[in-house]
Amino acid sequence: MDRAMSEAPVVKVSGLRKRFGAGPLVLDGIDLEVARGEFVSFIGPSGCGKSTLLRLIAGLTPASEGSITVEGLAPEQARKRMFFVFQDANLMPWRRVAENVELPLLLRGDAPAPRRERVARMLEIVGLAGAEAKFPWQLSGGMKMRVSIARALSVAPEILLLDEPIGALDEMTRDRLNEDLLAIRSRDPFTGFFVTHAVAEAVFLSSRIVVLGANPGRVTAVIEVPFAYPRQPELRETPPFLRLLATTAQALRAVRVA
Ligand SMILES: Nc1ncnc2c1ncn2[C@@H]1O[C@H](COP(=O)(O)OP(=O)(O)O)[C@@H](O)[C@H]1O
Ligand SMILES: [Mg+2]
Repeated sequence: MDRAMSEAPVVKVSGLRKRFGAGPLVLDGIDLEVARGEFVSFIGPSGCGKSTLLRLIAGLTPASEGSITVEGLAPEQARKRMFFVFQDANLMPWRRVAENVELPLLLRGDAPAPRRERVARMLEIVGLAGAEAKFPWQLSGGMKMRVSIARALSVAPEILLLDEPIGALDEMTRDRLNEDLLAIRSRDPFTGFFVTHAVAEAVFLSSRIVVLGANPGRVTAVIEVPFAYPRQPELRETPPFLRLLATTAQALRAVRVA
């Protein structure tokens, strides 16, 4: 982390404000610097602007005021370094599992042999070896999301942005997916941005949690998560983890009652 901190930030957000058209301010004065290899979660009440902030960083919507840089570039110029995972798995129904995961590699122009190798490896990491030839309709919700994550990570993006990717899944599937995400990250490191409203998930995954308040969205607390990576599932039952869970839940509650 020392080396990372001495580098220029991967993402730098300063004085960011966002409104849509002539509407009210959605985000008001966001400042954030994220170093390479960090995993930052945004949590906050529904409608506080989490998705909007993620989309701004990804260059999918423009800032109204202030600035965002990604690797020193405007976000629109840095799109190739980022991969965005949306809330639903968004798989192509007519493509088999392996073909879905392969798609970004195909678009990038990778040759068939390395493509096949990479797809096999990604599917193995997310526990879907053997499901290559299945179609999305043959998969459970959790499996679909695993395919979506394998697809996002197939190109080993420098920056991965995930907008509540695991929201609709049961707790066991969610835990499993979070463990997969960290396992992949330990092999192919990426800087992560994660939107969730599940506190335990934020603490398990993140190196830092940014709590956002609503109307307009702003940063109300920043919580450092000191646990070293790789993180084991058992971390979730340790007293330091549970203490941080309580701290984060309190910060979130403070926003909700404000
Ligand atoms: N494309 C858009 N046009 C107009 N308003 C939008 C648009 N996207 C989001 N908003 C508004 O911005 C606010 C924040 O939305 P969003 O970022 O989706 O919140 P969150 O992800 O925290 O639930 C909401 O009031 C929402 O209605
Ligand atoms: Mg959202």
